[in-house]
Amino acid sequence: MRLMITGRDGQLVRSLIRRGANIPGLELVALGRPELDLEQPGSAARAITAHRPDAIVNAAAYTAVDQAEDEPDRAVRINGEAAGEIAAAAAALGAPLIQLSTDYVFDGRAGGPRTEDAPVSPLGSYGRSKLLGEQLALAANSRTLVLRTAWVYSPFGRNFLKTMLTLARDRDALTVVADQRGNPSSALDLADGILAVLRTWEGGARVGQGGTYHLAGTGDATWCEFAAAIMVEAAAAGLPAARVSPIATAHFPTKAPRPADSTLDSSKFARDFAFRMPDWRRSTAEVIAEIARAA
Ligand SMILES: NC(=O)c1ccc[n+]([C@@H]2O[C@H](COP(=O)([O-])OP(=O)(O)OC[C@H]3O[C@@H](n4cnc5c(N)ncnc54)[C@H](OP(=O)(O)O)[C@@H]3O)[C@@H](O)[C@H]2O)c1
Repeated sequence: MRLMITGRDGQLVRSLIRRGANIPGLELVALGRPELDLEQPGSAARAITAHRPDAIVNAAAYTAVDQAEDEPDRAVRINGEAAGEIAAAAAALGAPLIQLSTDYVFDGRAGGPRTEDAPVSPLGSYGRSKLLGEQLALAANSRTLVLRTAWVYSPFGRNFLKTMLTLARDRDALTVVADQRGNPSSALDLADGILAVLRTWEGGARVGQGGTYHLAGTGDATWCEFAAAIMVEAAAAGLPAARVSPIATAHFPTKAPRPADSTLDSSKFARDFAFRMPDWRRSTAEVIAEIARAA
């Protein structure tokens, strides 16, 4: 199977490249700018026609949640319209698409964990653009599977876990918001989940196509609890660690509002693809151990 992945240098793509590298019969084609620029209409369709993939994972995205409040049109173009174009070009080849999306399509007021049919109501520009991407991708290709995830971290790129480790090098104490709850999700575990979907599809099965799924780390946390666990594992791995204490979101205002509780129920994915992500604490320890080995 030739799998095209958008967003070559992103956390999820680098994780997919690592986890998919030794799978017999799986050819990975990871594309990024300038060859594939989702801001340019037609760019994705040209790349898809040129590479003729058997399946596509659209993991490229405008992921700067606060900056998206200042650039809503750019977010809509990259996360929304381009997802529709990718889905249409995949449909023209008869190829299925996994369209990545986010827990930020929810406003988080109802409390969680949320199933896929819970009402969506994004609070910010990023969440609205990703929701548009879900809708356009499902409308343009009956073989689209929308995969919502959350709070992604990995040894690669930029993420909350790496930011906490960097801050702990210079500070003894950190304050972290304790009234937003979600599911910390390792991109490496997500890659394993996506590979489980592709295995299910091998041979022509269409399980989950035309549908929406949640897939996130098992267990939930506030950002403060996540940060505290990061520091425990950092100390265990010989990295600098800081004391973590809670603050309220009201004392740490951000440009884009965040959902108070955006936890996801991943049981539909477990039922249909026989895969559940590990407990986030276990994966956090593994990612920090890898970062420590490389330091
Ligand atoms: N990160 C999270 O916490 C989180 C949470 C929920 C859902 N998600 C979703 O999960 C998916 C993967 O996230 P991630 O954390 O792996 O993202 P990431 O590390 O931020 O990577 C995003 C990638 O998209 C690329 N990109 C941005 N604009 C582009 C454009 N105009 N044309 C082509 N490529 C472009 C970036 O390229 P450059 O390297 O050139 O900038 C980057 O490689 C995304 O769909 C995201 O919305 C992420």
